[in-house]
Amino acid sequence: MCGIIGYTGTQDAVPILVGGLTSLEYRGYDSAGVALASDDGIKIVKSKGRIENLSKRLYDTGYHAPCGIGHTRWATHGEPSDKNAHPHSTENLSLVHNGIIENYDELQERLKSLGYTFVSETDTEAAVKLIDLYYRESGDPVKAMFSAAAEIRGSFAFGVVFEKAPDTIYAMRKDSPLIVAMSECGGLIASDIPAILPYTNNYFRLEEEVLAVLTKDSVSFVGKNGESLTQPEETVSWSVGEAQKSGYPHFMLKEIFEEPEAIRKTVTPRLVNGLPDFSMLDKDIGRIHIVACGTAMHAGLVGKTMIERLARLPVNVEIASEFRYRDPILDKKDLVVLLSQSGETADTLAALRHSKACGVKTLAIVNVIGSSVAREADHVIYTMAGPEIAVASTKAYSVQCAIVSLLAIRLAFDCGKLDESEAKRLTALLINEVPAAVATVLKKSEEIGKIAKNYTEGAEHLFYIGRGADSDLCTEASLKLKEISYIHSEAYAAGELKHGTISLVTEGVPVVALLTEHKLAEKMISGIREVKSRGAHTLAIATERIKDEFTVPCDDMIVVPKIDPLFEMFPAITVLQLFAYHASATRGLDVDKPRNLAKSVTVE
Ligand code: M6R
Repeated sequence: MCGIIGYTGTQDAVPILVGGLTSLEYRGYDSAGVALASDDGIKIVKSKGRIENLSKRLYDTGYHAPCGIGHTRWATHGEPSDKNAHPHSTENLSLVHNGIIENYDELQERLKSLGYTFVSETDTEAAVKLIDLYYRESGDPVKAMFSAAAEIRGSFAFGVVFEKAPDTIYAMRKDSPLIVAMSECGGLIASDIPAILPYTNNYFRLEEEVLAVLTKDSVSFVGKNGESLTQPEETVSWSVGEAQKSGYPHFMLKEIFEEPEAIRKTVTPRLVNGLPDFSMLDKDIGRIHIVACGTAMHAGLVGKTMIERLARLPVNVEIASEFRYRDPILDKKDLVVLLSQSGETADTLAALRHSKACGVKTLAIVNVIGSSVAREADHVIYTMAGPEIAVASTKAYSVQCAIVSLLAIRLAFDCGKLDESEAKRLTALLINEVPAAVATVLKKSEEIGKIAKNYTEGAEHLFYIGRGADSDLCTEASLKLKEISYIHSEAYAAGELKHGTISLVTEGVPVVALLTEHKLAEKMISGIREVKSRGAHTLAIATERIKDEFTVPCDDMIVVPKIDPLFEMFPAITVLQLFAYHASATRGLDVDKPRNLAKSVTVE
């Protein structure tokens, strides 16, 4: 959500800023802009819409500079427009911002009374003018930024250039991600790793209450009393190639195809003697709460099903944005599990902090190493999906489902619901059979594409129905379809449809029925008959076992390979993701960057 890039060095900042912003596009944005700093002063170029618009404007100006900051804005305060796009400036400085200044109106009133005027509708303008106020007083960028930060409520990552120090970038953050790096050609700041990868694999994750000062050949860190600080340098384990499409038409498709490997890489490091290792957790856990947002929350639903099924322990799954405000009942012995791909989702982070404040142990299951959720939780387990660039989460969901399944096996073993050989057998299936079954589904991508086209072309609504674990999967399938194809869809527990919603099922309405739950197959078949007799166009996604044993009354069927029934949901997940992908791609939509969405939701 919003992207920041900054560069100061020996090269022309223009292509570096444009390239950096392009690599951050996946975060979601609706306008972009840059500030170029040189001895000739600071020049601003902004544009509503795509980076191509900005790039054209920028190259038309002929501007070049050795230092600059750039921004992609995802509108929160004020519509997407040139005027609201960042950077925002005063005659002394220009600033880019990710986050939300919650007390901006209060600050604005005060600044107006001191003679400042405001030209945009953004919250950010209050920040730039507040820094300006303190800069006028002290003439010191560092002091000015710390003084302003002390008065700002909300979240921010700032990149700032000052007119009088045109070769220097100042950066600080609170509750919004920002990294800092030193490369052979100069210093960089960025919201995320892909933007720095062409220049270096080493970076610093900027701590809160620390200000980074970057010049062409140095980066230094300063504390709020002016003291100089050291920060640990980290190294990215993935390459530029991993953050590129590598011949796939879209990141989403590439990422779905990476699932078998991602599952293996996630599960393998968690094994000790063939059993899942979660030794960091207390043995005597009270209730388990899984808290997350969106797709990650849907993986939590799979976790609930798995843990309750295998370990017979009750699990509560909650949307983080609700959890944080509803005063949840938490006991000291409980465990709160935070699931997050980015580890920067504002609501998930707030839920984590709330849990810790209640004295409850927290376990983060996160994909991005060193992210805020990972660092603040009592325990962290990394999923090894590698970079996920497409806004629509796919491989991250699959690996989250794998890791919560692994946790379920371990809990079941610990409480005596699974003996050692059965726990080992299920664990081995997760590393071997599950990725193999997913790989088999990937070979059917083209076939799934044709079926997806047939079911979604011209469709305005679509229903997903399932029972048991399939009902969990339907919620995710429906989200995936909605977010990238813009087709309205609903996920329904098949038995619930007739309690109201079946009135929407009329001639030709597409219904996708999921059948991986063998013991519920007959019930599902009745559900399919109910919608079919109202004219629904029915697609079944069924296991080989169900196809062989039952007559499924559907118009079309996609068969998922036969593996242990507990895990047949995994290949079905991939079918559903491919279905959504092809539905979007055949409509010619921007699959990787759906409208209004951001990859990492760093504001409430
Ligand atoms: O980074 P997180 O996993 O915390 O993100 C949570 C959701 O915003 C995310 O899963 C979102 O629902 C997906 N991008 C949708 O595909």
